[in-house]
Amino acid sequence: MSWDRQQQRRIWVIGASTGIGHALARQLLSEGHHVALSARRTAALGELAAEFPDQELVVPCDVTRKDDISAAVRRIGQHFGGLDTVIYNAGSCEYLNDGQVDADLVERVMATNFFGLAHCLEAVMPLLKQGNAPQIAAVSSSAAYLPLPRAEAYGASKAAMSYFLHALRLDLRPHGISVNVICPGFVKTPLTDRNDFAMPCQISAEQAAAEIVAGLRRNKKEIHFPRRFTRLLKAVASLPLDLQQKLTGQLVRA
Ligand SMILES: NC(=O)c1ccc[n+]([C@@H]2O[C@H](COP(=O)([O-])OP(=O)(O)OC[C@H]3O[C@@H](n4cnc5c(N)ncnc54)[C@H](OP(=O)(O)O)[C@@H]3O)[C@@H](O)[C@H]2O)c1
Repeated sequence: MSWDRQQQRRIWVIGASTGIGHALARQLLSEGHHVALSARRTAALGELAAEFPDQELVVPCDVTRKDDISAAVRRIGQHFGGLDTVIYNAGSCEYLNDGQVDADLVERVMATNFFGLAHCLEAVMPLLKQGNAPQIAAVSSSAAYLPLPRAEAYGASKAAMSYFLHALRLDLRPHGISVNVICPGFVKTPLTDRNDFAMPCQISAEQAAAEIVAGLRRNKKEIHFPRRFTRLLKAVASLPLDLQQKLTGQLVRA
């Protein structure tokens, strides 16, 4: 079901302190929606919230801590009654170097990007069931389309997210809950500012937020952008593995 233009939705943005999540929360607030803002760094959330009094709720939350998630969901329930859309945007990116497998690094990335998603969804489901045209959205990545060098941990976490969510959609359809998987290409944020390699077709966080809101409003199953980049990646992903890996072997390197 698509959003009604006039409808004010109750939305939880998880990972709203910087980058894509911050721009997304700002756009949703400026459109008049009621938005619960979560992240670990609450100062940035407070500054955003101060611009939109009465419309927001600041809910500190570390997605790797189950107690934080339960407390956040409790507060959202008390304040909003139910929830129409949850957007899981919290994410971290760490790369492996020279094929050195660092299992602690892999665990850290999976904890934030994948297990955090599962814990948040488990906790929030009762609120969503009381929502209007309930919707689960999460920011995965176009890195999930195909294996990229150094992205063993990050890409695996995003591929896990995408698979989990596309499968969940099949099971939640009879319950009237839709699932939107968001796959950005490169977006300029503090996360990508750390990258030491070329990032073709990079867009701003505000452009990414506009793409996401448009896709959520139309309830698109997969929201991917910028399309000139994501279509190219999808085409490369469809090639035979030998050819695909000849093309990707030199990407994501300094
Ligand atoms: N930028 C890109 O090119 C790009 C491309 C594809 C996908 N993505 C995905 O887009 C999402 C947003 O990334 P971004 O580029 O905007 O990066 P960012 O500016 O670093 O933002 C990451 C957000 O996630 C939050 N976060 C991280 N760990 C958390 C935790 N343990 N608990 C709660 N919140 C946590 C951060 O808040 P605190 O640190 O305050 O907790 C911050 O609000 C990520 O999932 C990323 O993988 C980004």
